[in-house]
Amino acid sequence: MGLIKNLMLAAFAALALGAAQAAEPLKIGLVLTLSGPFAAYGKQVEHGIRLFLAKNGDTIAGRKVELVIKDDAPGTAGDVSKRLAQELVVKDNVDILAGFMLTPSAFAVAPVATEAKKPMIVMNAATSAITTKSNYIVRTSMTLPQITAPLATWAAKNGIKRVYTIVADYGPGHDAEGQFKKTFAAAGGEIVGEVRIPVARPDFAPYLQKVKDTKPDAVFIFVPAGEAGVAFMKGFQEKGLAQAGIKVIATGDLLDEDIIDSIGDSALGVISSFHYSEAHKSAENQAFTAAYAKAYPKDRPNFMAAAGFDGMHLIAEVLKKTGGSADADKFAEAAKGMKWESPRGPISIDPATRDIIQTVYIRKVTRVGGKLQNVEFDHLDNFKDPGKQ
Ligand code: PHB
Repeated sequence: MGLIKNLMLAAFAALALGAAQAAEPLKIGLVLTLSGPFAAYGKQVEHGIRLFLAKNGDTIAGRKVELVIKDDAPGTAGDVSKRLAQELVVKDNVDILAGFMLTPSAFAVAPVATEAKKPMIVMNAATSAITTKSNYIVRTSMTLPQITAPLATWAAKNGIKRVYTIVADYGPGHDAEGQFKKTFAAAGGEIVGEVRIPVARPDFAPYLQKVKDTKPDAVFIFVPAGEAGVAFMKGFQEKGLAQAGIKVIATGDLLDEDIIDSIGDSALGVISSFHYSEAHKSAENQAFTAAYAKAYPKDRPNFMAAAGFDGMHLIAEVLKKTGGSADADKFAEAAKGMKWESPRGPISIDPATRDIIQTVYIRKVTRVGGKLQNVEFDHLDNFKDPGKQ
């Protein structure tokens, strides 16, 4: 009788423990840039995450999601992001690290994820090498080589022979410049000038005069989304480069929906390559943009919102597969090869690199229903990051 009673007690204890574990909240530590010049990044990613939870419920594999948010402004200082990630792990006891708006932040936090054994979901930072810095990193945004290569091919095929490159002088800019030169040269194009500009508040005037004097067919530009792109487009107009017949070709960071209205009509006709457009035609995007407009009527959804939404989708699907476990090794294994339909189109996680595979679109800025939109007219499907080859 004693034995049976003890067995029954043990069984009850195990059940109770199981239930307690299942009821443990899922703590997601978000490192987002929410103030300073890159504040729009954190806002957009957070919007995407919250939209996913509003649509799908905030309990995943029986665990209620708790977001613990840290602002790593200015976003370009790796040491700030790293300290906040350490706090999230040690003080807040988070299960998962996510966010990472700018490259320095992702690079600085990678060793924290490895040491603390936490899954790390990169929702914006886009330098190719980031996913090689920890086996626990999975990325739902993009890489600059992935976006740039299709644009260089398109340019060479469409009468653009001489290009001047302008990029922000840090990881993603170096990646964009390197890939553009490589792909464009292989397709027979010529680089007639190149310049790297400061990341924060660049003054384009002196560079633009030099570009004008060189008379390229086009300028290829990568700047991190935001003020720099607005300043570049303004300078391009003011210095008369458009009138001189010089075209702008860019990664979509220049023209994202959060800032395109600040650029205004001078954006019309500009060709870019990117993985997300508010104007993307699909049922998923229609649902996404409608939900976004309802929840955030003052803003427009952009690629960062889509990456936040997809990052949260990834976390939810992985946890369903692991039965609620956020163990970093199990998480990374379960994420590999995952495929789904994003608002941007079909995406998957490359099992070899944990980076994203996606369609890259060529788009043209057009006025649609009174709004400046990046209208997709060509695409390259299932495109992997060429930067890791
Ligand atoms: C980055 O820092 O990796 C980054 C930031 C903004 C972008 C793209 C890449 O638009």
